[in-house]
Amino acid sequence: MANIFTRTANGVMDWVNERAPGMMPAYRKHMTEYYAPKNFNLWYYFGSLALLVLVNQIVTGIFLTMHFKPSAAEAFSSVEYIMRDVEWGWLIRYMHSTGASMFFIVVYLHMFRGLMYGSYQKPRELVWILGMLIYLVLMAEAFMGYVLPWGQMSFWGAKVIISLFGAIPVIGNGLVEWIMGDYLPGDATLNRFFALHVIALPLVLLLLVVLHLGALHEVGSNNPDGVDVKKGPKGNRWDANKPKDAIPFHPYYTVKDLVGVGFFLILAAFVIFFAPAFGGWFLEHDNFTEANRLVTPAHIKPVWYYTPYYAMLRVIPDKLGGVIVMFSAIAILFAVPWLDRSKVKSYRYRGLLSWGLLLAFAASFIWLGKIGAGPGTDPVETQVGRVLTFYYFAFFITMPLWTKLDKTKPVPERVTMHD
Ligand code: HEM
Repeated sequence: MANIFTRTANGVMDWVNERAPGMMPAYRKHMTEYYAPKNFNLWYYFGSLALLVLVNQIVTGIFLTMHFKPSAAEAFSSVEYIMRDVEWGWLIRYMHSTGASMFFIVVYLHMFRGLMYGSYQKPRELVWILGMLIYLVLMAEAFMGYVLPWGQMSFWGAKVIISLFGAIPVIGNGLVEWIMGDYLPGDATLNRFFALHVIALPLVLLLLVVLHLGALHEVGSNNPDGVDVKKGPKGNRWDANKPKDAIPFHPYYTVKDLVGVGFFLILAAFVIFFAPAFGGWFLEHDNFTEANRLVTPAHIKPVWYYTPYYAMLRVIPDKLGGVIVMFSAIAILFAVPWLDRSKVKSYRYRGLLSWGLLLAFAASFIWLGKIGAGPGTDPVETQVGRVLTFYYFAFFITMPLWTKLDKTKPVPERVTMHD
């Protein structure tokens, strides 16, 4: 039986190979002959998990699109219809809405890993830049998706965020009208956001992810030690007869990543089945009420993954200043490969100063997120938000200094294994 199966499979492969001889080498280059360092740890699960969530968003998105009506008059009730009347519609919708938050959790952890192990340093600057472009497009994609169900927060969130462009001198007001296609978010806004959300941005995202992985596979993966397994001593590299620090991606990491996938799916299932709104963090309470342009919700705030930036916007008293600070906070991340002047990649071999500053950075980003999610009326909190915003920028602007000043430990020649 197995024999017939193998012979048929081999026959099909030979048939394809004769007609498209370039296909197998590409598979080998990116899977069975892509040698990845053998010391990947937990932090290396998040790249493949991001891919998994991307596929989940596309597949569940296709099924939602079959029943969703992209018009201001029908959008909200079509989502209710999906939740109540479409077979398994509630599951598809919760997989999609939970997937959006999961995407950002996974991507933030993926980015933090990059910071911790200096994965953006030469020669992986392009991998980082493409990652940052993915992050930008992902934010736009999630924002437009959030407008589609046409709940109160969809409407008012869209109004507040699009109106930010009004702070730009001279062209601001015209730009806001052009983006909305109206004077308030309306049918035209919903229609164009639908087009961008379901086809244009997913295509861009997919393309960027392919380029991101293509760029990574040109230079090879970094690892928790920041030791380059393509260069260095012989034993570092893949060689069938010698001790080696790099192993073929397939089957070793495809199998290892499946363990991460298993844990992740259990966690995601728990959220989907027991807490899909996640206490208002994944689906906000106000969005269970249909959009009404005559009733403003008490607290307009974006979903959690934008709140650190939203906090920065709010604590700056001037509107244009706030908008500039908010966009600069994202823009500065692009420069990280050139701001870090340390001669070692991984923080494993950096000093206490670097560790302290990095952990304080992560903590202040989370704290800003908490402030951005609150009502924004507490003056003490506003002051704290200003200090944290200052720290956010100081961390990056002074990075060339402290990465040079900090003591480093000797980096081993070959990768190390930690249990
Ligand atoms: C849809 C979103 C994304 C997907 C699907 C994705 C996918 C991946 C995958 C599969 C890997 C290889 C496995 C791994 O190292 O974990 C990787 C590596 C990497 N990604 Fe991403 N990524 C995404 C977003 C980002 C973002 C937003 C950044 C940073 C701005 C980023 C920066 C990096 C870096 C620096 C590496 C190399 C890591 C190393 O070799 O140590 N990625 N990505």
